[in-house]
Amino acid sequence: MKTGILHLHSFIPYALLFLLVLTIVKAFMGLASNKPYTNGDNKLSLFTLVFAHIQVLVGLALYFQSSYYITLKEIGMGEAMKDDMIRKMAIEHPVTMLLAAILITIGRSKSKKKQEDKAKHKMVAIFFTIGLVLILSQIPWQNWLA
Ligand code: HEM
Repeated sequence: MKTGILHLHSFIPYALLFLLVLTIVKAFMGLASNKPYTNGDNKLSLFTLVFAHIQVLVGLALYFQSSYYITLKEIGMGEAMKDDMIRKMAIEHPVTMLLAAILITIGRSKSKKKQEDKAKHKMVAIFFTIGLVLILSQIPWQNWLA
C-alpha cells in the first residue's frame, strides 16, 4: 500500500512540473503579447491546479506512514529540528508544498475574478511562478531522480 502511494507521489510531479511550466509560459506570453485569455488557458490552469491538489492529498496519505513522521513522533520536534533530513522531509517539505498549492489556488481564483484578459494572465503568471519556485526548492532531488 505504502509503496503504491509512494510511486504515485513520485510520478505525479513529472506531470505537475510539465503542466506548471506550460501554464506559466503561456501566461507570460499572453501578458507580453496582449493575447486573449482563452477557454483553453482557463482549462490549462484548472488542470494544473487539480494535479497540485491531488499531489498534496497523496502526500498527506504518504506522510502518516512515512519513516520521517514516525521518527518525528518518536524523537519529538526539538530533536527532529536538529536532524537535517527529518526536518526537511517531516516539516519543511510538507509545509512548503502545501503553501505552493495554496498560492496556485489563490492565483487561479484571482485570475477568474479579473475582468481584463491581461490581468487574468498576470495573476496566473505571478502566483503559479511563486508556486513553481517553492515546489522546485523542496523536491528531494537526490531521492527522486536516484
Ligand atoms: C506539490 C506538492 C508536492 C510535490 C511536488 C512533492 C514531491 C515529492 C517528491 C518528488 C518526493 C520524492 C519521492 C521519491 O522518493 O521518489 C516526495 C517525497 C515525500 N513527500 Fe512530497 N510532494 C508534495 C507534497 C507533499 C505533501 C503535502 C506531503 C505531506 C503532507 C508530502 C510528503 C512527502 C513525504 C513524507 C515524502 C517521503 C516519502 C518517503 O520517502 O518515505 N509531500 N515528495
